[in-house]
Amino acid sequence: MKINTNFENLKENYLFATIAERVAKHKADNPMKNIIRLGIGDVTLPLSRTVVNAMKKAADEMGDKPTFRGYGEYRGYDFLQNAIARYYAKNGVTLVRDEIFVSDGAKSDAGNFLDIFDKSNIVLNPDPVYPVYVDSNIMAGRKIIFTNGNESNGFLPMPCAKTRADIIYICSPNNPTGAVYTRDALRAWVDYANEQNALIIFDSAYEAFISDDNLPRSIFEIDGARTCAVEIGSLSKTAGFTGTRCGYTIVPMELMAGKHSINKLWYRRQATKFNGVSYVIQRGAEAVFTDEGLSECKANIDYYMGNARILCDALTSMGISHTGGTNSPYVWLRCPNGLGSWEFFDKLLNEANLVGTPGAGFGKMGEGYFRLTAFGSREDVIEAVDRLSKLK
Ligand code: MLT
Repeated sequence: MKINTNFENLKENYLFATIAERVAKHKADNPMKNIIRLGIGDVTLPLSRTVVNAMKKAADEMGDKPTFRGYGEYRGYDFLQNAIARYYAKNGVTLVRDEIFVSDGAKSDAGNFLDIFDKSNIVLNPDPVYPVYVDSNIMAGRKIIFTNGNESNGFLPMPCAKTRADIIYICSPNNPTGAVYTRDALRAWVDYANEQNALIIFDSAYEAFISDDNLPRSIFEIDGARTCAVEIGSLSKTAGFTGTRCGYTIVPMELMAGKHSINKLWYRRQATKFNGVSYVIQRGAEAVFTDEGLSECKANIDYYMGNARILCDALTSMGISHTGGTNSPYVWLRCPNGLGSWEFFDKLLNEANLVGTPGAGFGKMGEGYFRLTAFGSREDVIEAVDRLSKLK
């Protein structure tokens, strides 16, 4: 047998796996040290009561013959599709039930969605960028071009009419920089995509962290998006589902590639390769979108955003330039004293037992930058800023 040789073009390891290995080694060498982890964006607060109760009830149903369920619907159960549609309606976005495909999270869909597109498509990615968008296209052997985010454009690159692209990834609020596109900026991307006959894969995994009502939470708030975009949503950060796994992808009925309906193609792909998210988890996800569920999740998000404020205030007082942390759980900072991203990573780990994510792991424009997440416990965040401030 032969391997897919595109894998030879990948870095040896996925960014967060590399970090986990380095941290595990440091822990093995320093077993007594208390390591604070503000690296991977993993939540620390438990699931909300309403969600847990819904899952318990669903588990009981699975143990009773009259309410037991076998295989689910390929697009997800109607009760969850309807709950997601109602959530979008609150922001003025109308969705048809069959446009909503329930999934096991944003990461899988961000990679898998490419299954339905030819290898010859040119993929446009911002830089810095969530590595999944890049690595999954390297695996498929696609040409990837980049548009640069930097301090002068606020890490929000805009489309350039002269650049030809077929598939465009946009993440807003952005992972890793925390920057958020305005409505006008997203409109420019939507117009560009429609002119180019290109597809936008919009990752809205962090939309629940937006507190500024003027900022768009969904690309479908923008006119014209239904003919050029799909949106990938996730309950990982919104509702603490990183270990529970549930997300969704919205594929508008109007979205066409030539004579082909993208919705139909994605349905065809999912029905073949994916048997859905378990009934118990989908009931938990449904509970997220109830009034009680949303208010419990909001309390957790407020807690994390309190952490983000502590991180940002500390960086400001240390004179370290940073972005994000206001409508996003990520704080993106310039490494102090001109250090490279991995140099700063090593220094923080070795001298402060503090883990973050080197900006260079998100692309060449991330070199010299560093990402901290606000998903830690309050005590850890307070201790982390203390350790940061004592760093020589
Ligand atoms: C992140 O920290 O960027 C993500 O949570 C990691 C991932 O999804 O792989």
